[in-house]
Amino acid sequence: MCGIVGYIGSREAAPIVLDGLSKLEYRGYDSAGLAILNNGEIQITKAVGRLKVLENLTHGGETMPGSAGIGHTRWATHGAPSDMNSHPHFNKEGTIAVVHNGIIENYIALKKKMQDKGYEFVSETDTEVLAHLLDYYYKGNPLEAITKVLHRVEGSYALGILFAEHPGDIYAVRKDSPLIAGQNDDGCFIASDVPAILKYTRTVYYVDNQEVVRLSGDKLYFYSVDGEELNKEAVTIDWDANAAEKEGYEHFMLKEIYEQPKTVTDTVSPRVKNGEIVIEELNMTDEELQNIKRIHIVACGSAYHTGVAAKYIFEGLVRIPVEVDVASEFRYRSPILQEGSMVIVISQSGETADTLAALREAKKQGYKVLGIVNVVGSSIAREADNVMYTWAGPEIAVATTKAYSAQLSALYLLAMKLGRARGTIGDELFGELLEDLRKLPNQIELLLGQKQKIQRFANRYVGAKDIFFVGRGIDYAISLEGSLKLKETSYVHSEAYPAGELKHGPISLIEDGTLVVAVSTQPMLYQKTISNMVEVKARGAFVMAVTCEGNKAIEKAADYVLYIPESNPYFANSLAIIPLQLFSYYVAVGKGCDVDKPRNLAKSVTVE
Ligand code: AGP
Repeated sequence: MCGIVGYIGSREAAPIVLDGLSKLEYRGYDSAGLAILNNGEIQITKAVGRLKVLENLTHGGETMPGSAGIGHTRWATHGAPSDMNSHPHFNKEGTIAVVHNGIIENYIALKKKMQDKGYEFVSETDTEVLAHLLDYYYKGNPLEAITKVLHRVEGSYALGILFAEHPGDIYAVRKDSPLIAGQNDDGCFIASDVPAILKYTRTVYYVDNQEVVRLSGDKLYFYSVDGEELNKEAVTIDWDANAAEKEGYEHFMLKEIYEQPKTVTDTVSPRVKNGEIVIEELNMTDEELQNIKRIHIVACGSAYHTGVAAKYIFEGLVRIPVEVDVASEFRYRSPILQEGSMVIVISQSGETADTLAALREAKKQGYKVLGIVNVVGSSIAREADNVMYTWAGPEIAVATTKAYSAQLSALYLLAMKLGRARGTIGDELFGELLEDLRKLPNQIELLLGQKQKIQRFANRYVGAKDIFFVGRGIDYAISLEGSLKLKETSYVHSEAYPAGELKHGPISLIEDGTLVVAVSTQPMLYQKTISNMVEVKARGAFVMAVTCEGNKAIEKAADYVLYIPESNPYFANSLAIIPLQLFSYYVAVGKGCDVDKPRNLAKSVTVE
């Protein structure tokens, strides 16, 4: 949930580490800190607040000379955001400094033991225990000390460690929290994610679980948890370097909303060959696809919402029963998987702790898992049996938009592939679906053209207290995502309900002027949703409808209508979500919220 960066080489470390941290602020942004090793001494500066505070405090790193350094941007888990709880943490003499992303689960027991040995703790964090344990085991050989500590700690961690007595080295370790190492002619790097070092190098190593890395000037060494040296293959990152920059947009979120036509194209195009859907990564024959009896989809947040949409799509188009679970529930509910079950986990980051645990649970029960993942080389991508990448590129804004769209596209492809293999989608329907799928990017583009209209409408709701999103079937899945976007970016309280469920309770919350966003893209359900709109309108609600071109009948029941282009109803999610994303974005901008880094949130939730 935090971000770590380290650099050692021929250049000044602090500015490079600060720059790297600025690309990781999406992972946590309540405090930040640096440890720089210079002339055998470790200098530490940390500050509560955004990274800017630390940058100002250190004059962009100038006040911290030295060519080896580690840094951290924090999303607090143990102990409130404060200077003291910020990382790096260090031993009493200040000769060992540690930055940590993850959670040390047995830290209370370890802390007690270290206190009994006379160690004093100055923070409330779990991480500080690592600094003291390292101190305890360090007898001149860092690798030996680290491996001893690793055998004692339980939990998840990516660590960057400096030893004052070893000015030519930085050490790093990974278990269940992401970590990459990189190299160029000027030195070596570690980071929690690629964008942090993309400016400096494209030669990257994905550090595996329980591996130790030594960054030694211009060379990287890898070791097992038992200290044996390992050989690792480098990966070349081919992302566009601008992908992680704002490129003139006011916020990453807006830029990413605008990238959606490309995201859909990039996810779909490589998998349509000669008029057929080809998903090589599935590694399943048509016969195997025919034998699937049930699909379990497991994910969190927005990724879960794509799963909810997929349930309607798979059951409607492919006639396979689908269960969708929030990962944090799936992992602890003793899920019953039966022969013929296919498990799909969906994750942008590929690091979400609950989704990863769900994947492991399914594998433990002997089932193969398909990961629909955006971040290449992430934990879920590596642990899933098969991976279908969503080619959305780096997504920086904490509120997902383009990765969500890419996930939907991947699920459409999967549904079409399954339907084709199982004979539920005949030639004619398949042809129509393919044509509609190909039209989606242009149709999204058209919707983006309505930006100003949506902004004007959103400005009216900057002061809103509660907003409701309702819809039936796939429209309910869209409502869930519309509501989440609004909550997380603008802090407006919002609920999503199946439209037919309103009168079973929530309708009592409707007051004069309450905005109800009614999503109605499924022709079969138009009339039903209109009835629900009329019901809330009669209780004073202001109804904004999102519906398909041609559904003029809705104008009788709605106060304001946004039309989306006509497409196959199974793909409507990809279109209807665009105005809802823009709406949330502009309400948040209107309220002066920190759109890309909403309070209390982090992009990658690597803790339970
Ligand atoms: C989406 O806007 C959220 N920030 C969040 O719900 C997110 O979708 C969820 O945490 C899952 O993340 P993942 O896709 O990286 O697994």
